Amino acid sequence: MDEQAAGLSSHRVELAEVSLHGSLTDPVVDSMNFLNEVMDRYPDAISFAPGAPYEGFFDSLDIARYIERYLAYLRDERGLDAARARRMLFQYGPSRGRINELVARALRVDEGIDVAPEAIVVTVGCQEALVLALRVLCASRADRVAVANPAYVGIAGAARLLDVRLVPVGEDADGIDLGRLAQSCVDARAANAAVRAVYVAPDFANPSGTRLGLAARHRLLDVAERHDLLVLEDTAYRFTAEDPLPSLKALDRTGRVVQLGTFAKVCMPGARVGYAVADQTLRAADGRRRLLADAIASAKSYLTVNTSPLSQAVIGGMLLEHGGSLRELSRAKAVWYRRSLRLLLDALGRHLGDPGTSPWPWNAPEGGFFVQLATPVPADGDLVEVSAREYGVLWTPMRDFYLDGTGANRIRLSCSYLTRPQIEEGVARLAGFLRDRCRPAAVTDRATPVPVVR
Ligand SMILES: Cc1ncc(COP(=O)(O)O)c(C=O)c1O
Repeated sequence: MDEQAAGLSSHRVELAEVSLHGSLTDPVVDSMNFLNEVMDRYPDAISFAPGAPYEGFFDSLDIARYIERYLAYLRDERGLDAARARRMLFQYGPSRGRINELVARALRVDEGIDVAPEAIVVTVGCQEALVLALRVLCASRADRVAVANPAYVGIAGAARLLDVRLVPVGEDADGIDLGRLAQSCVDARAANAAVRAVYVAPDFANPSGTRLGLAARHRLLDVAERHDLLVLEDTAYRFTAEDPLPSLKALDRTGRVVQLGTFAKVCMPGARVGYAVADQTLRAADGRRRLLADAIASAKSYLTVNTSPLSQAVIGGMLLEHGGSLRELSRAKAVWYRRSLRLLLDALGRHLGDPGTSPWPWNAPEGGFFVQLATPVPADGDLVEVSAREYGVLWTPMRDFYLDGTGANRIRLSCSYLTRPQIEEGVARLAGFLRDRCRPAAVTDRATPVPVVR
């Protein structure tokens, strides 16, 4: 298409990209666009890149039935007449959400977390909950949020969009390094700044796959107490745990934890429904008290107004069909994803040898969607292109998940999107690619081996 046809004629206003907000030219944004574009260009390549759910699960979804189920609940359990129940679906709704009572019930039944429905805000995916939490908590330029390094792109991008400074904290095999977290808080204070909160995904982080053990969960809460932090707990992959550890929110005795959840992986991402549990008390200058959830809901009223009531009805109906339990709702999917992950790990072992001695060591999470693998050569966009074009396999370079410029020699493999035969075939292709193009002779990143988590 020529420039004129593309609307780029000289008569039209032209904006300098540098005049827009800096987050738009962030390398992370570019790299995600690049990956999508490579996937489009090589449709036959097997892609370990997306953390999206397996699409075979969509076949059995029946949106009309879930909505009907939710309407029946409004009529039968909440005492609404049919017209009012229907209106609830079509009208604007409260910023706090419509299905808070159902989410509170699921948290109580599944997690032993006892919170009032008013302490929950139903958000447009977990992403909106992240944005709102950062917006509400970070009042001044001096406020910081600590995150595990490598970090989930959702938190890194949200912080960038809001000009919130992140403090990267290294990870070990068990997740965020708590000694370094404590030190970061001390360092921030010495620089007249404050770490207000720490963001963690304790159950199988994206992208590293790490999981915080029980003792580390207690220690994290101790660090939060000592350094006056809130903990933003992202539970996106928690449902995949075979032996769930108590969530940070369930262990929280002093109200340090704001839990951020999503229905994207267990129901469907297209509904765009997530939530924030924020039962902390806010004290106003005149002594009046309200919930942190009230402040989050106020901020939401200027962002997305309310989460689609139709989407909330779908998610509400799905929960109701499973006795109000998210764990029941996700049980079969959890088994599926664990099998896919095991297959991915087994296939890597069959093709690449022992993860501890292989030139391409990888970790072995017990849940979640992701495995990280170290390569002896930098894994960048050019290498992804070669991998897709010549070997028919795609993966995600991890360099853009690192906030400090490290991690150039790592790739993330996701098992969630693929069928089992695709995983098997994809690993065979990946092994060919690694042997040909990522040979150990060019070793450059031996200083930071991938931790092998058994
Ligand atoms: C760590 C983490 N949190 C949350 C989400 C889901 O966010 P959303 O509900 O906005 O789709 C994802 C999805 O990739 C994720 O990896």
